[in-house]
Amino acid sequence: MKEKLTFIPNDLVSLKDYERYAKERMSINSLAYVCSGAGDEITFKRNEEAFQEIYLEANTLEDLSEANTKIELFGQTYDSPIILAPVAYQKLVDINGEIATAQAANVTNTCMCVSSFSSCTLEEISESTKSPLWFQLYIQPDMKTNLELIQKAEILGFKAIVITIDAPISGIRNVEQRYGFSLPENISAVNINNPIQTISNFENILEMAKILPTWKDIEFIKNNTKLPVILKGITNTSYAKKAIDLGIDGIIVSNHGGRTLDTLPSTIEILPKITKAVDKKIPILFDGGIKRGTDIIKAIALGASAVLIGRPIMYGLATAGALGVAHTLKILKEELEVSMIFTGCKDIKQIKNKEIIF
Ligand SMILES: Cc1cc2nc3c(=O)[nH]c(=O)nc-3n(C[C@H](O)[C@H](O)[C@H](O)COP(=O)(O)O)c2cc1C
Repeated sequence: MKEKLTFIPNDLVSLKDYERYAKERMSINSLAYVCSGAGDEITFKRNEEAFQEIYLEANTLEDLSEANTKIELFGQTYDSPIILAPVAYQKLVDINGEIATAQAANVTNTCMCVSSFSSCTLEEISESTKSPLWFQLYIQPDMKTNLELIQKAEILGFKAIVITIDAPISGIRNVEQRYGFSLPENISAVNINNPIQTISNFENILEMAKILPTWKDIEFIKNNTKLPVILKGITNTSYAKKAIDLGIDGIIVSNHGGRTLDTLPSTIEILPKITKAVDKKIPILFDGGIKRGTDIIKAIALGASAVLIGRPIMYGLATAGALGVAHTLKILKEELEVSMIFTGCKDIKQIKNKEIIF
């Protein structure tokens, strides 16, 4: 394993470069956890490939004075539509874990969504950034635990609760099974006592199905927090509509980066249908396979208000800790700005309203 970088070399200029650098700096255990998808990795691979089949149109004589990347979401202004996705156990790739990611979020003014399975405490993370934080909840069988977590997030000033609905159990990740992935003793989900998880072990899985969350739990949580509630992991129109009916504030079109049910369609291919079904009633966020500013502009043009990045956080962290995550965010934001100039969009609203998809 190579040593972590303390500077940015000249040939580290894209998220693909980060992936290459990171893989040389991760243990087999971490590689198996971060770089894999479920089953035959069809969804995992398709998320990225599908972007390559969408082409853009150039409009290079537009008036772009006052160009900016600001967005309004749930009553807050955010500097850019790029958000750090909830990614569990970040200490697997960097000794400072989520604290380092929060420091990167701080210097780049980026919103960070903190995983239920974070390996640093919510207090440590919130002390490390002045940028907005969201809390991602995996609903636990004991509702008291969920309410306590939400209350802590509220007290610490988190701006939204993101409930992940697409991973009630772990996907069958054969790569993890083959390499015998396990959490090292010093890394755990420090914010929850005995969290419910099924990593690589599916014996008696139907027993566990008896205690999995349902729409009733979503409704209960929505009624017990003042924070906006966002559902993460929407991949069909009926769930998008149901979320609206329940008064949910926003949805994230996500297939968990291809880590749950293999052969779900790629998120960018599902997005237009969900955009149509939601009909501007609530904001749609998006993740899965984003590696380029052009991917971001495509997702926004197809209806997303903002996008999240997952694995690129781990690649940045593994390569150069907080510096790597901050640089990853800088690259992506600059690429988005360049794409805006070429497509003739002065702001995020214009990306949504202009016909820039070929
Ligand atoms: C290593 C890893 C851990 C993840 N942990 C969580 C998690 O704790 N909670 C969650 O909602 N999503 C989790 N996700 C999914 C991400 O939030 C996101 O949906 C996905 O990574 C987006 O795809 P991308 O990796 O192609 O950007 C995880 C993803 C990865 C790769």
